[in-house]
Amino acid sequence: MSGLVIEEIGFDGIDAVMTVMNRAFDPGYGEAWTEPQLLSMMAMPGTWLSLARIGDVPAGFALNRLIADEAELLLLAVAPESRRLGIASALIARSFDLLRLRNGVRLHLEVRHNNPAIELYKKAGFRAVGRRPAYYRATDGQMHDALTLSCPVLTGLTGHFSRNELQFGPNESRGPKLSGRRGAQRLASLYF
Ligand SMILES: CC(C)(COP(=O)(O)OP(=O)(O)OC[C@H]1O[C@@H](n2cnc3c(N)ncnc32)[C@H](O)[C@@H]1OP(=O)(O)O)[C@@H](O)C(=O)NCCC(=O)NCCS
Repeated sequence: MSGLVIEEIGFDGIDAVMTVMNRAFDPGYGEAWTEPQLLSMMAMPGTWLSLARIGDVPAGFALNRLIADEAELLLLAVAPESRRLGIASALIARSFDLLRLRNGVRLHLEVRHNNPAIELYKKAGFRAVGRRPAYYRATDGQMHDALTLSCPVLTGLTGHFSRNELQFGPNESRGPKLSGRRGAQRLASLYF
């Protein structure tokens, strides 16, 4: 979509992310993170936070963490007024592109079993690989299962970002380093 910019941000971008966070998640499930939760995760090695903007207006974000060669999409949200424009899909594509640069092999995530976002993830190539019964407690006390979804980097979306456009976040120096190793053959041997 025109005017959409996605970039990795550091601690100075937290306010923009929190404006989306506080409006995006259904308060009935208590799934939005607090600012201290977000800050402490961002301080962990291998974590990066991508912010989507339309012009200057924050529209969505994705938080990822890479450990060894597997990553987790920890948070994904789009502001209510910016939905169904492909922004979450573009953020997922960027997660995969950054993972490719870091020689990651697979992206995992957890999602409440009745979250409509599951449609988005299926469309993006994720498949259910596990179920955790009564994993989430809603604010009314009701328990909900979590689905674990996973997608190999090889078949994940791409945003066709150029290598120059894919920049490291400020805390990336403590995370995994890029190497020139080509991952595609290795991935193919692992998954097909
Ligand atoms: C889930 C969420 C991130 C989707 O963001 P989005 O930018 O609207 O998603 P996209 O526009 O990229 O959607 C791409 C496709 O995914 C599917 N999809 C997205 N949202 C959907 C919904 N609520 N219900 C059913 N299908 C959906 C559709 O197939 C959609 O294509 P279409 O618009 O052509 O029909 C957004 O609704 C949100 O922030 N929800 C609250 C936070 C949340 O639950 N995050 C995920 C769990 S951590």
